[in-house]
Amino acid sequence: MTIIVAHRGASRMAPENTMEAYRLGVEVGADAIELDVHLTTDGQLAVIHDETLHRTTDRTGRVAELTMDEIREADAGARFERPDDSGQPFAGQGLRVPTLPEVLEWLPEPTGLVIEIKARAAADAVVQALNGHPAQAGGRISVISFDEGAIDRVRELDSSIRTGYLVAPGQSLDEAFAWASGRGHTGVHPWEGDLGADPLTILAQAKILGLEVSCYVVNDPDRMQFLSDTGIRAFVTDVPDVAVETLRRS
Ligand code: G3P
Ligand code: CA
Repeated sequence: MTIIVAHRGASRMAPENTMEAYRLGVEVGADAIELDVHLTTDGQLAVIHDETLHRTTDRTGRVAELTMDEIREADAGARFERPDDSGQPFAGQGLRVPTLPEVLEWLPEPTGLVIEIKARAAADAVVQALNGHPAQAGGRISVISFDEGAIDRVRELDSSIRTGYLVAPGQSLDEAFAWASGRGHTGVHPWEGDLGADPLTILAQAKILGLEVSCYVVNDPDRMQFLSDTGIRAFVTDVPDVAVETLRRS
């Protein structure tokens, strides 16, 4: 059964990378939550996609140059607009940029977690945060990155952590798969568009190399069903509610 991963939480229903988006992702039936991490200037793990605050909060500044306390002053619901709403329904509601330990503390069983390292400097702190966590011991957590050095560092520190290589759109899948396999990573995460109309050859190639394949970001129900029928392990989606309805309709 294809694993449905809520991309930055249920990010069409609530502000991306907030506890509310994660909670809603679980509520609608996602199997796992995907999130993004950066390191703050005081060594904490801020869960936010961009390296700056301005797109998703009411503050400005670079995450790497701010303390977690400073980042926590930002309203993480300030910018979100539902496509069918006027105004910002989450502005002023107390939503904050979470920390990775806060998400780990919350993570309900049996929900999985996909942690994308956006800044290589965060790798050591991520491994530290996962140390001894029951979801890590139970194989429910993966650490992924576009940055080869970030996931190599994670494996170097703790080879029991499942790691995945994010393949950028248009990047050679042959080369990416060979690299990930050679470095001992668990999986590869191509852009769904690069899987094309006939992903079976690509999936077979990954299987020979011992790699799991998950792709990003699938929001079209027909494409969800098609990819699921190929036996792909997982896909990331902004609309986990649509994915659950599409794949488990019977
Ligand atoms: O799961 C992979 C996906 O999240 C990568 O793209 O830009 O949303 O972090 P991005
Ligand atoms: Ca991401």
